[in-house]
Amino acid sequence: MSDPVALARADIRGLAAYEHATWEHGYERLHANELPWRVATDDSAAGLNRYPEPHPATLAAELADLYGVAPGWVLPCRGSDEAIDLLVRGFCRAGRDSVIVCPPTFGMYAVAARIQGADVIPIPLLAEAGFALDAVAIGARCATGDVKLVFLCSPNNPTGNLLGEGDIQSVVEAAAGRALVVIDEAYLEFADAASQSRSIARQPHVVVLRTLSKAYGLAGARIGTLVADPRIVDLLRKVLPPYAIAQPCIEGALRALAAPQRRVARERIAALKRERERLAAALAALPCVSRVWPSTTNFLLTAFTDPAEALERLRRNRLLVRDFSGRPGLERALRITVGSPPQNDRLIRSLAC
Ligand SMILES: Cc1ncc(COP(=O)(O)O)c(C=O)c1O
Repeated sequence: MSDPVALARADIRGLAAYEHATWEHGYERLHANELPWRVATDDSAAGLNRYPEPHPATLAAELADLYGVAPGWVLPCRGSDEAIDLLVRGFCRAGRDSVIVCPPTFGMYAVAARIQGADVIPIPLLAEAGFALDAVAIGARCATGDVKLVFLCSPNNPTGNLLGEGDIQSVVEAAAGRALVVIDEAYLEFADAASQSRSIARQPHVVVLRTLSKAYGLAGARIGTLVADPRIVDLLRKVLPPYAIAQPCIEGALRALAAPQRRVARERIAALKRERERLAAALAALPCVSRVWPSTTNFLLTAFTDPAEALERLRRNRLLVRDFSGRPGLERALRITVGSPPQNDRLIRSLAC
């Protein structure tokens, strides 16, 4: 099986990692130019006068447990946004390499690639096939040599569907030895499906992205996880700045991942899914709604007869939703996040004529 890191930029492969202050317990810390006193308002466990752990091992172990992989297979990042950025920086040479994205999809793949100077090749999802992957076109494009990353989002934002297992597999096979396949599972907890991380030991060019921002309610803590072969994790750890994850975020995530909180998270995911189905049915019954797409996420892509008018009504009622109208394949669509039952009731009342 080929080494996935062979696809990375040669200069990053050869880069010596930054040597941060040693991280050892049981010593007085006179080696990192920190202040010896805490500020009076500091209620953190470790003390905010101290740098956080350079690469937080306890958090990595907890995330590995959550996602069912060994600790060496995870890299905690500042949101999966940062994982996307690390991948394009580590694998794409400016002006030479390309990434494939499958619109309509999450916008950060293309933005991160453009910031890095990589070319963005859009291969649209097939709207008439329920926003399925065009696996044949992706496979053919991978064969041309310049593609280093293929971004797949499953469940996909903003369409809400899971990508077909067979289509993902055929892209993974076509990309073997040529490109990494990055499968973004930011919304997987809301779907009844297994993670693609179960196959990464067999297919080391597959990278999976997870996040605590959605189902675990920690968007403000910015904790994402790159799940990949340890060789990829080790390479990208060199690109990630040391001390990237702030101490309050490490402590907040560890508290949120303790067993009782995980139980609460599971209950909330189940409640959110029930609420999603109730909201979908109520929206579908409105005369101003022409279509509600099935969703395996915490949002509903919804087409309106007059999306501008619907947006205006919602704004008047102090409700924000995301406008996707005018995008190819989504001409009259708004993306509505499933809220609490009272928020959803208010949304329905605002749209009812
Ligand atoms: C598909 C997808 N991936 C990644 C992200 C970014 O998540 P994070 O908060 O972990 O950076 C989002 C955020 O909306 C998303 O929709």
